[in-house]
Amino acid sequence: MKITIAEVGQFVGQEVTIGAWLANKRSSGKIAFLQLRDGTGFIQGVVVKSEVGEELFKAAKALTQESSLYVTGMVQEDTRSPFGFELTVTGLEVIAEAVDYPITPKEHGTEFLMDHRHLWLRSRRQHAVMKIRNEIIRATYEFFNDHGFVKVDPPILTGSAPEGTSELFHTRYFEEDAYLSQSGQLYMEAAAMALGKVFSFGPTFRAEKSKTRRHLIEFWMIEPEMAFYEFEDNLKVQEDYVAHIVQSVLKNCRLELERLGRDTAKLEQVKAPFPRITYDKAIEFLHEKGFTDIKWGDDFGAPHETAIAESFDKPVFITHYPTSLKPFYMQPDKEREEVVLCADLIAPEGYGEIIGGSERIHDLQLLSERIKEHQLDPEAYKWYLELRKYGSVPHSGFGLGLERTVAWISGVEHVRETIPFPRLLNRLYP
Ligand code: 4AD
Repeated sequence: MKITIAEVGQFVGQEVTIGAWLANKRSSGKIAFLQLRDGTGFIQGVVVKSEVGEELFKAAKALTQESSLYVTGMVQEDTRSPFGFELTVTGLEVIAEAVDYPITPKEHGTEFLMDHRHLWLRSRRQHAVMKIRNEIIRATYEFFNDHGFVKVDPPILTGSAPEGTSELFHTRYFEEDAYLSQSGQLYMEAAAMALGKVFSFGPTFRAEKSKTRRHLIEFWMIEPEMAFYEFEDNLKVQEDYVAHIVQSVLKNCRLELERLGRDTAKLEQVKAPFPRITYDKAIEFLHEKGFTDIKWGDDFGAPHETAIAESFDKPVFITHYPTSLKPFYMQPDKEREEVVLCADLIAPEGYGEIIGGSERIHDLQLLSERIKEHQLDPEAYKWYLELRKYGSVPHSGFGLGLERTVAWISGVEHVRETIPFPRLLNRLYP
């Protein structure tokens, strides 16, 4: 019977065969412990010399790290193992021997590990992070499907820039200029006018020269957009959605969180509603905290966001930023034209901004003016303006950065570990 490690619970007391890799091993003269992994989980295989005989025991002792094998054995319950099971080995067949696997159980530097990312992914820690990433994606589809959203896929090759022109990846599109998408938002606005409530999930590209623990050149974003939703409605979707993904990870990734040493008590508290603070109040707060240099109209850097987030135990919305700091499409506050109806959601524990969102301008004339003020090519935005010409409605949306969210929920310091093959300022390989 060929099974996976995830299935062993159904086969207690039976003999099974598992296709696996040898993650690690230790042995004495009489017994060998094989740490086996097959992608679905980890299990310890125990090879007892007196039971398997001289030849098989020798073969087990000679196994090298990351060799691939078929392992046959009896499934036993074992309360000491984190998985609850152990395999008493009765047979071994080596599929391919691995010679001198570069990532040994000793400590390695980050650059070395990043150079070997194609192999590093096999480690327990990376396995746990990828499983949490997967759970967040699963819970995302679940949340939006359960709330009547339609998944829409915006293009990756685009002719216009939603988030400003300085960070665009330029390419040629036959005879024209084209850019890699830095946000699907403008297309999602068109989709919301057709389908009501929509969401996208896809890669985005930003030629940002930032070398921080929060920046990737290629990252994945979830972008919902809702027709007839105003500022408040938008925040409600965000807090319900973020609470849902956190609670789903807590429920379905206990082992992974444990392996990463995540303090889950902090995550348990992440339930709607989330606290809010206006940009104005945030500036006052920062002054009180000793950030005397920052003045109204300045953008917040990572230390400012961290200081604000530290005074809350849940994610916090910073709302109503100055218009001058934000992209052209954001709706000004009717009471105070110098601020926009936007919010950034800042994760707790120093993980920074995970969501940027806003109500969008739905007035044709105002939007045309903004496009001009931002010196964008009106021709490239002609189709976008037409959304305001034909049955314009108030609408809102947001973008959640997947990798920053994975970093926060997993408690992983740097976003480079939250995406299978990170694209960083100086890294295009592997
Ligand atoms: O705040 P941003 O730039 O918002 C937008 O792109 C909107 N058009 C989204 C929308 O309303 N549909 O980016 C949204 C999120 C950020 O909060 C952050 O989590 C993530 O995307 N993000 C990055 N993640 C990793 N590396 C980078 N360089 C990132 N830039 C933004």
